[in-house]
Amino acid sequence: MPRPILATVHVAALRHNLDRARRAALDARVWAVVKANAYGHGIERVFDAFRAADGFALLDLKEAERVRTLGWRGPILLLEGVFDARDLELCSRLDLWHAVHCDEQIDMLAAHKTQAPQRVFLKMNSGMNRLGFTPERFRSAWTRLNALPQVDEITLMTHFSDADGARGIAHQVEVFERTTQDLPGERSIANSAATLRHAASTRADWVRPGILLYGSAPDFPEHDAEHWQLQPGMTLSTQLIGVQNLKAGDTIGYGSRFTAEGPMRIGVAAVGYADGYPRHCTTGTPVLVNGVRTRMVGRVSMDMITVDLTPVPDAGFGSEVTLWGRASNGTLLSIDDVAQAAGTVGYELMCAVAMRVPATVD
Ligand SMILES: Cc1ncc(COP(=O)(O)O)c(C=O)c1O
Repeated sequence: MPRPILATVHVAALRHNLDRARRAALDARVWAVVKANAYGHGIERVFDAFRAADGFALLDLKEAERVRTLGWRGPILLLEGVFDARDLELCSRLDLWHAVHCDEQIDMLAAHKTQAPQRVFLKMNSGMNRLGFTPERFRSAWTRLNALPQVDEITLMTHFSDADGARGIAHQVEVFERTTQDLPGERSIANSAATLRHAASTRADWVRPGILLYGSAPDFPEHDAEHWQLQPGMTLSTQLIGVQNLKAGDTIGYGSRFTAEGPMRIGVAAVGYADGYPRHCTTGTPVLVNGVRTRMVGRVSMDMITVDLTPVPDAGFGSEVTLWGRASNGTLLSIDDVAQAAGTVGYELMCAVAMRVPATVD
């Protein structure tokens, strides 16, 4: 028997979340952002759920090839554009749309020999200072691109730094709109947080939601997944493989980080940091045993964690343990709650599920 750990991808939930994005996006077309192997869910596993999107956005050319291999004939967007001139040949062959965020990418396009002009997304750095042309340089980049026979339509795009937080997006929207007001072409500006929180001020032709599709709230803890009516796209589950009966003063695991105050039962679950469960989780991190909420205690080891069985006295060897997602009895444990206990975000946990964890689709 393999270890009982399992990642289950919930196709119906992903479909629901895409629908949620579509409703929030009003009449905009929706890119399903599936970079990082669909935020750790597996491109092949999410494909059926997201084929109702208007396109797939990602950044790895190998991932773009995988989407085409699945039979997708619609738009695919490379969010970081090409990394090398040879990538443009693949863009031609696979009909990939690509972001253009720097002069070097325009140089590559200018030198590219192609029959069919390519569709590009010209990216503005409207304040995030990661990728994109500054507002001062954006129009000259547009003019240069527009003159190239290698280029077809130019969509104007930007990306927000604070759509999930107090600073908001108004300053970036203002810069983007002022700079692009008399330029033709479609627009794409909103990620998940902007789509859910700022739909009115980010009305555009395309939205680019990622995290919300997978059921994590982009602005947790201000709002949780339930608030946004999102359903978990993945459950990470395992089983108890051992039980210990402790007495007062007994300690658990490496570093003896937890000391029992009185008699208590501890379950040992088959999951550890080598599976992607964060080692930063400390005593108190929520976990479900047989669908009952309890807490992790002590340190996370490579292959095991220990959990307090006090609220689940009937649990024992083989009992179901849900690290995040949905337990068999329907109880939910949000990935955002677990991420918070580890001092990180749901994005990181879902992307970090290790190769050794078998995955299935329901
Ligand atoms: C350019 C771009 N658009 C959209 C997204 C999706 O963001 P989110 O997962 O926060 O919706 C990302 C993710 O980092 C991105 O880099």
